[in-house]
Amino acid sequence: MQHKANMKKLIAGNWKMNGSLATNEVLLAALAEGLTNDRPSCDVAVCVPAPYLAQIQALKLTHSSLSVIDVGAQDVSAQASGAYTGEVSAAMLKDFGCRYVIVGHSERRQYHFETDALVADKAKAALASGITPIVCIGETVAEREAGRTEEVVRRQLAAVIRGNGHCISEVVLAYEPVWAIGTGKTASPEEAQAVHAVLRAQLKAATDQSARVKILYGGSMNAANAASLLAQPDIDGGLIGGASLKAPDFLKIIAAAHV
Ligand code: PGA
Repeated sequence: MQHKANMKKLIAGNWKMNGSLATNEVLLAALAEGLTNDRPSCDVAVCVPAPYLAQIQALKLTHSSLSVIDVGAQDVSAQASGAYTGEVSAAMLKDFGCRYVIVGHSERRQYHFETDALVADKAKAALASGITPIVCIGETVAEREAGRTEEVVRRQLAAVIRGNGHCISEVVLAYEPVWAIGTGKTASPEEAQAVHAVLRAQLKAATDQSARVKILYGGSMNAANAASLLAQPDIDGGLIGGASLKAPDFLKIIAAAHV
């Protein structure tokens, strides 16, 4: 497929609600060491809990080899500012040097009842502040078993396209089948590719810039299975949960992501 010709892959870690000042320092030092002699040929990011954004920015200055790692957050408010206790705005994330923010992760859809419309609004808020949203979509096991995978992911993507118009080419998409997240069960490369191809076609119908949109796979991607997933024509990178907390594993996934 031609669309990949000039596209660098993106390997993004999603730390979820893990880490501490002490363990983050150890993890980043190990990543720094691994990246010193082995510059990645892909884009790399870590999406960390908001309180640690400043620490990660500071550690990037301490270890020069970390300059290749971009920083991201895991959620953003759809509102710009005001009386929204507990929320963090896109402008605040920008203040802390965020390049990316995950929106619509299935854990937020499930535990915080985020709707397709809210996810689209969050993506819009991020884009308005110059932050790339990593928009997560994916079906549950019940939906897959009912043969509804395509319908569900198309509905989720349609909401983001509707809410963001021509800016849709600025987002990163992440296909994360809910049944594969944190379960050790990975979609096979063929299963993932089939869904990615559906999403690519939907993007193509929405924008003539669809070839620019990275579509990541997420859900138990690890050092052992990354290469075969990343070899698929429409898989442009990975969103990595558990394996991003272990430096050797994350480094192996980065190494597997050749252009
Ligand atoms: P996992 O998580 O790699 O631990 O399955 C991926 C994600 O939720 O983004």
